[in-house]
Amino acid sequence: MHYFEYKNGELYAEGVKVQDLADTYGTPLYIYSAATLRRHFKAFDSAFEGLPHLTCYSVKANSNLSLLKILAECGAGMDIVSGGELYRALAAGVNPEKIVYSGVGKRTEEIRQALEAGILMFNVESMGELERISVQASDMGKVARISLRINPDVDPKTHPYISTGLKKNKFGLDLEQSYAAYARAMTLPGVDPVGIDCHIGSQLTTIEPFLEALDRLSLFHDRLKGLGLRIEYLDLGGGLGITYDEEEPPHPSVFGQALTNVLKDYPLTLILEPGRVIAGNSGILVTEAVYTKKTPSKDFVIVDAAMNDLVRPSLYGAFHTIKEVTPKDRPSLNVDVVGPICESGDFLARDRALPAVEPGERLAVFSAGAYGFTMSSNYNSRPRAAEIIVDGDTVILARRRETYEDLIALEK
Ligand code: LLP
Repeated sequence: MHYFEYKNGELYAEGVKVQDLADTYGTPLYIYSAATLRRHFKAFDSAFEGLPHLTCYSVKANSNLSLLKILAECGAGMDIVSGGELYRALAAGVNPEKIVYSGVGKRTEEIRQALEAGILMFNVESMGELERISVQASDMGKVARISLRINPDVDPKTHPYISTGLKKNKFGLDLEQSYAAYARAMTLPGVDPVGIDCHIGSQLTTIEPFLEALDRLSLFHDRLKGLGLRIEYLDLGGGLGITYDEEEPPHPSVFGQALTNVLKDYPLTLILEPGRVIAGNSGILVTEAVYTKKTPSKDFVIVDAAMNDLVRPSLYGAFHTIKEVTPKDRPSLNVDVVGPICESGDFLARDRALPAVEPGERLAVFSAGAYGFTMSSNYNSRPRAAEIIVDGDTVILARRRETYEDLIALEK
């Protein structure tokens, strides 16, 4: 469910015409709906109301400051993976005691920054990291709360680039290594092992892999009791999928119920790290057709958004629905929607049936709120798009369009 709807033949973001926003702010333009974000956060969070829990929005999905502020106002905690994300979360007013820090390559400065802020927990991904956190925390006169990220070797049945809980992936520690790491953690002065963590992948469209991972983690939790450890938190990561095309992922309430059934008798606080399911369908990318081009083998619509703005189609072969901002009644063509970047991999859609749009018309690329702007770049020296948040009839310029001066501002 989202608040990008057609009214009287025109696409609206909540109470505002998308065409007007594109006229005012130019294209390519990211537009986010505040009501959709709040709705998604609440739908997700309330799905776990039967359990002690903390929903930590995964900042990497969309880290715009205004967007983080909206979620922080809803009571969201945050899942971060870098010092930069910590900086953003704190700037957005997130309570540090609701921040968990994941990632395989935390640097010493980043660890110290997080200790200084007083975050809830580090999700530790290697023995080296465990030792380093202990040394740094001791040096600062602190004790760091930690979870170990367990790699449960479960197949999430998603794109290989976004599967993270398989033995061959770089993430976490396997069960045996984890056991040894907990035993070691108990001897270290600077860490307090209070949690168990895993994240098996992203864009999961069934619940089974989560339940399988949970099953392995709960058996492991029983084993840890033998060490005399008192675990307080179970972090299951993020990963719940959304509908881009015809996927039918479980509704958060179904996901919540399934986890609640398993965990209701466990004396643990559940932590969740949803990203895509909160932000994905809360955003669209608006682009303008620059040219249309017919070749003997294909029809192209060349638009002003490119792989530097939204890399998901190029990188994962991902599907994003594309619709006209102002639909007209006309025949449809089978086209490739491509950007101006000098690579054949620069496309937003391939072999897509689309109405025969004319240059100057706007298209909306749906489900672009997660891993859209955050993965954008300046490739081909293209200034990054502006980001708008619509809240009812109110429009917030959440990030101004970059300028050519911005492009060279850090260089000499
Ligand atoms: N927690 C951890 C430790 C993660 O690595 C991730 C995502 C999440 C939570 C959030 O997962 P979500 O709920 O959004 O599925 N760029 C890719 C997605 C990469 C996901 C990386 N990790 C894409 O565009 O599909």
